[in-house]
Amino acid sequence: MKKALLEKFRITFGRTPEIIARAPGRIEFIGNHTDYNGGTVLGAAIDRGVWVALAPRADGRWRFATDQRPGIVEVAAGKFAKRRGASSWVNYPLGVLAALRAFGLAVPEGFDYFAVSDLPAGAGLSSSAAIELASAFAYTGMTGETKAERETLVKVGRHAENNFVGVPCGILDQGVSGFGRKNRLVFIDCRGPKFATVPLPAGAHFWIFNTHTKHALVDGLYAARHRECMEAAKTLGVPLLADVSPAAVVAAKRKLSPVAFQRARHVVEEIARVDATVVALRAGDLATVGKLLTASHRSSQTLFENSTAELDFLAKTLAATPQVFGARLTGGGFGGAVMALTSEKFGAEQAEKVVAAYAKKFGARPDVLHAQTGDGAKRIQA
Ligand code: GLA
Repeated sequence: MKKALLEKFRITFGRTPEIIARAPGRIEFIGNHTDYNGGTVLGAAIDRGVWVALAPRADGRWRFATDQRPGIVEVAAGKFAKRRGASSWVNYPLGVLAALRAFGLAVPEGFDYFAVSDLPAGAGLSSSAAIELASAFAYTGMTGETKAERETLVKVGRHAENNFVGVPCGILDQGVSGFGRKNRLVFIDCRGPKFATVPLPAGAHFWIFNTHTKHALVDGLYAARHRECMEAAKTLGVPLLADVSPAAVVAAKRKLSPVAFQRARHVVEEIARVDATVVALRAGDLATVGKLLTASHRSSQTLFENSTAELDFLAKTLAATPQVFGARLTGGGFGGAVMALTSEKFGAEQAEKVVAAYAKKFGARPDVLHAQTGDGAKRIQA
């Protein structure tokens, strides 16, 4: 990737970059819509991501380009107007600059910027957090603000997403892209937030099935779930749903509307599943981990209602495959991808069977990715 990045940078800007940073995409392992409710979540950084190269300019221009879209987008440094249409991808690197400023960190005065990605976009693997974190590490490398801690840059990325891009997401995506480690899962207690890692038992494999389906209103639906959760917490008299136990939610059923009860129950039981998953992981008990993953999907399907017929079909078909420990939708839902935790005996042949069954039912083939865990965001020698 680095070679391709240098080459594209040279072709686009006629020069070589001074700074390179890379940040990975992530799998949401378990903990669906728990993050913004103050709960816990487990994720894995994968071995694919976004690379950003930068070279300074003295003329106060920010010039952005990517291998994902044609052309160069040029912005006068300090102009933070949100973009629409074909250049709207720039809202990620631009939002990070706005967030650096909001955090009182130095903002580069002028640069040429090129981003390349080997992360499938729209697959629920959080290419947005990857570009945010890679940009944040590149910018701080350029300004010399290298003391800014990893945790700060994770928060800068989330700030960009919440305030500039405009998605009320939690800390999961940026936290995992920032704190990922090979062969480990990232555990986040979102209230601190506090970041830790848990070893992934040997012999555990990840397979991602991307349906390429996306609900037309996905951002609005995500925001609606966010709102429903906040309202349920208010009715229960707590700041966040993580403040109530599953038993307390059941006891308060009559206070809540039927929908609020379902959303709250999903969140508090999912938090309990995350904690049970950590225990099972530490014991190397992948069979129990798999059952928790499958239970998480079922809860998304029936209580949180952020699944789709396509995701349900994949999760069910995978969970019924002998080499699979468990399967669930990964990410916000309403389309996107299903993740399966498998033994090493699951291979291309088994994946193809699932793809064929899906194609027969839905008339399209999902993309399949056998993902490896990888390290979190970092700067790389240019
Ligand atoms: C998206 C958001 C995350 C998280 C998940 C659902 O990926 O960006 O913050 O809320 O959905 O768990």
